[in-house]
Amino acid sequence: MIKNILSHLEEYKKYAILSPIFVVIEVIMDIALPYLMSLIIDRGITAKSKEDLYKIGLLLILSIVIAFASGMLSGYFATKASAGLSKNLRSSMFKNIQNFSFEDVDKFSTGSLVTRMTTDVQNVQSSFQASIRIAIRSPLMLIFSFIMSFKIHRNLAFNFLIVFPIILLGMYFIVSRAHPIFTSIFKTFDKLNTVVSENLSGIRVVKSFVKEDHEIQKFKKTSQSLFEKYVRVSKLMALANPIMQFSIYLITMLIAWFGAHFIVAGSLTTGELMSLITYAFQIQISLMILSVILVQIIISRNSAERISEVLDAKSSIQNPENPIMDVDNGSIEFKNVYFSYVNDEDKCALKNINLKINSGDNVGIIGSTGSSKTSLINLIPRLYDTTSGDVLVSGKNVKDYDLKTLRDSVSVVLQKNQLFTGTVIENLKWGNENATLDEVVEAAKIAQADSFINAENDGYNSTVERGGTNFSGGQRQRLCIARALLKKPQILILDDSTSALDNTTEQNLVNELNTHLPDMTRIIISQRVSSLINCDYIIVMDKGEVNGVGTHDELLKSNNIYNEIATTQMEGGDFDAQRR
Ligand SMILES: Nc1ncnc2c1ncn2[C@@H]1O[C@H](COP(=O)(O)OP(=O)(O)OP(=O)(O)O)[C@@H](O)[C@H]1O
Ligand SMILES: [Mg+2]
Repeated sequence: MIKNILSHLEEYKKYAILSPIFVVIEVIMDIALPYLMSLIIDRGITAKSKEDLYKIGLLLILSIVIAFASGMLSGYFATKASAGLSKNLRSSMFKNIQNFSFEDVDKFSTGSLVTRMTTDVQNVQSSFQASIRIAIRSPLMLIFSFIMSFKIHRNLAFNFLIVFPIILLGMYFIVSRAHPIFTSIFKTFDKLNTVVSENLSGIRVVKSFVKEDHEIQKFKKTSQSLFEKYVRVSKLMALANPIMQFSIYLITMLIAWFGAHFIVAGSLTTGELMSLITYAFQIQISLMILSVILVQIIISRNSAERISEVLDAKSSIQNPENPIMDVDNGSIEFKNVYFSYVNDEDKCALKNINLKINSGDNVGIIGSTGSSKTSLINLIPRLYDTTSGDVLVSGKNVKDYDLKTLRDSVSVVLQKNQLFTGTVIENLKWGNENATLDEVVEAAKIAQADSFINAENDGYNSTVERGGTNFSGGQRQRLCIARALLKKPQILILDDSTSALDNTTEQNLVNELNTHLPDMTRIIISQRVSSLINCDYIIVMDKGEVNGVGTHDELLKSNNIYNEIATTQMEGGDFDAQRR
C-alpha cells in the first residue's frame, strides 16, 4: 500500500531524496554546535587563547550558516515532494474515478470519494512531509547527541538513561490515548463533509421543505462533537509540557550535581558541562517530536488505505481486448436478461427480458415508478452489465464494443440530467467537441431549445450556472436532449426527459425527431400515455418484467396495466387530440 502511494511521487522523487540528505547535513551541524561552544568556553575563555577563539568562532558561525541553509533547503524539498505527491495522487484518483462504472460510484458513494480526494490526501501529504524531514531529523539528533554525550563524559551521560523511561512512559500514555481520538476525529470529518456536501447540493430542497433549522442542528451536532474531540486531544497533548519540564529540570539537576563533582575532581571542564546540558535538551526534544510524528504517521495510514482503495479499484466495466470500433445500425436485442444491482439472483431488478427492437424503431416504454424502466435502458450503453443474459446492439454483444464507440452510438438523456458550469454552447458541445455552430443550432432546433436560447441576452453564449439552475426544468431537459443529439447517435434514449415539457412542445420535439432523424432508433420512457401514443410500439414494464408489447390500440385492449394507466390519464382529456 505504502509502495503504491509512493510510486506516485514520479517527477518529485528527486526532492524526496534531497530532503533527507540536507537533513543529515543539518543534523551534523546542529550536533557540532554544542561541541564547538564547549571548545570556545574551554579554550577561548578559560585558557584565554585569542587565536583559538577566532578559529573556533569562525567554525561556529560557518556551522550555523550551513545548518540554517540545509534546514531551509530540506524544508523546501520536503514541501515540494509532499505537495507534488498529493497533486499526483489526486489526479490519479480523479482519472481512475472517471473510469468508474455506475456500480463503482454506488459502492464508494460520492461523499466518500470527495473526502478521500481532499482530507485523506492532505493527511498523507502532511505525514509524508514529516517523514522525509522531521522523522529523519529527530532519531538522528537523538543518536548523535547520545554518542557525543558519551564521548564527552561516559559516567555523566549515563544519567540521561534515568530520564528516558519517564519521557517514554509519559509519551506512551499520551499517544496511546490520543490515537483513538484522532481516528474518530477523522471519521467525524467524513461525516461533517457528507453533511455539508449533501446540504449544499440539495440546498433548494432544504429551503423548499423549510428544513434549515433541522439541517443547522445536524451540522451543529457534528461540529460540536468534532470540537469536543479536539479539546480532549488538546488536554492530553498539554500533558506533554509538564512531563517535558519535569524531565528537563531533573536532568539539569542531575548533571549539575554530578557535573560539579566531576569538575572538582578534574575529569570534566565547564564547557563540556554546558554542551552536555544542551545535548540532554536535544535528546528530550527529539523524543517528544518523534512520538508526535509517529502518531501522525499511524493516523495517516488510515488515509493511505482509503486512497489506495480508490487507486486500485478496477472499473467493473472494462473495455474488451479486441473491441469492435463501429456500430452498424441501431437495432437492439435483449436475450434472457437478468440484472441485479447487488449481484443477488433473488433481488433482480430485471427478470427474463427478451426483446427485439429494429433499427429506426420509435419505441415507448411505460410502467409504474420502480418498474425498472431506467434499469432496462442502462444496460444498452453498458452503464451497468447484465447479471446473466446478453444485450446486443446491431447484432453484436455490447460487451464486445469499444466503450466509447458504444456510448457515442447510444445516447442516453438520463432521468437525472446534469448541465455544467459554462456557456450554453459549451454545454451542448459536450456531446461533440467538433460540432460546428450550424450543427449545434440544428440540434437545438430539433430539441425545441433554439427559441428560448435565442431569447437569452447572449444567445448561445449565455452562462449556465452550476447544475443549470438558471434554466427551468423543461429548458434543462431540452438542452440535454440537444446535447445528446449532437453525438449523432444511432440510438437515442430519452429517460423521462420530456416530463417537464407541455404537450405541444413535446409533440413538436417528437415530430422533429421523426422528420429529421427517421433512421435513428428512438426510445422514449414516459409516465404519460399521451407522450407515447404515436410510437411504433410500446413496452409495458411491471416489477422488472416485460408485461406486454404492442401499439397503443392493441395494448388498450389486451394489456390490463396499460389499460389502467390510460384510463386514469384519459379522465383528464382525450388522447385522440394527440394522434397524428
Ligand atoms: N443504483 C441502484 N442501486 C440499487 N438499487 C437500485 C439502483 N437504482 C435502482 N434500483 C432499484 O431498482 C428498481 C428499479 O428502479 P428503476 O430506477 O429502474 O425504476 P424506474 O422504472 O426507472 O422508476 P422511475 O419511473 O421512478 O424512474 C427499484 O426497486 C430501485 O430501488
Ligand atoms: Mg427511471
